[in-house]
Amino acid sequence: MDLGLNGRTALVGGASAGLGRACAERLASEGCRLVLWSRGGDALELAAQEIRDAHRVEVTTVSGDATDPATAAKVAVAARKALGKVEIVVLNAGGPPPVESTQTDPAVWRRSFQLLAITPIELTTLLLPSMRARGFGRVVSILSSGIRQPIPELSYSNACRSALAAWLKTISVEVMPDGVTVNGVLPGRLDTKRVASLDLARAERSGTTQEAVRAEYSLGIPAGRYGDPDELAAYVAWLCSDRARYQTGTFVPIDGGSFRALP
Ligand SMILES: NC(=O)c1ccc[n+]([C@@H]2O[C@H](COP(=O)([O-])OP(=O)(O)OC[C@H]3O[C@@H](n4cnc5c(N)ncnc54)[C@H](OP(=O)(O)O)[C@@H]3O)[C@@H](O)[C@H]2O)c1
Repeated sequence: MDLGLNGRTALVGGASAGLGRACAERLASEGCRLVLWSRGGDALELAAQEIRDAHRVEVTTVSGDATDPATAAKVAVAARKALGKVEIVVLNAGGPPPVESTQTDPAVWRRSFQLLAITPIELTTLLLPSMRARGFGRVVSILSSGIRQPIPELSYSNACRSALAAWLKTISVEVMPDGVTVNGVLPGRLDTKRVASLDLARAERSGTTQEAVRAEYSLGIPAGRYGDPDELAAYVAWLCSDRARYQTGTFVPIDGGSFRALP
């Protein structure tokens, strides 16, 4: 199916690894010109080079730490400079640390809220006016299944991402008449460095192995396994396409069937 993405422009966050990288790869395979954003360094440059080589599309990088209040403006300016116009934004970066839920720390709350709510809100706010003026825009946020069913050791993530989701839902109504859709995806357990490090932390806390933690989680997933990042990226590419123009304000689990309640 032609998604009509050839020649579109996209800014993808957390694009040096994991889910962001998979989304960048998918959008590149559909012919999008890209700006990849993460804290930067060799991994980001390598991702950009590999995507250029594999898909023959223009790929530019910008480095910025999403916990830094100055980053959203810096990334928006760099993306516009590289792409001319930003038609698609995939909101994504790293995740906050796990924590004992009754022992959270105000300083980590502030940092997490900047990372998971303020930076993506500011970035979207900066990019929306030109999307609306052109009559086409796609905002897709990589959230977490924790906004539906809070994950015990991820209080910072559960709460801060819920705030972002509430804002995204609010604006989705306002910008839809201008051809801009706003959606989120809710990964359950997809195979990335972050999930491996969370599994390792849980293993260390409970005196078991990372493999045992993974096996236990897998038992609770109807698909019987962790997801592949591309299984999320394929859906993100769909949300970015013209064909998904009637879909907005949705938050769809990509979790192998783990979420058991009705939507
Ligand atoms: N994988 C899952 O199943 C899953 C489930 C639920 C939620 N999530 C969430 O989805 C997001 C992506 O997860 P992932 O599994 O793909 O993680 P990952 O493999 O660790 O990749 C994270 C990406 O974000 C970048 N990044 C990290 N901290 C950043 C920061 N402060 N500012 C800007 N970029 C930053 C990293 O690159 P640099 O190191 O170059 O900055 C990397 O490109 C995270 O927020 C995660 O919590 C993932």
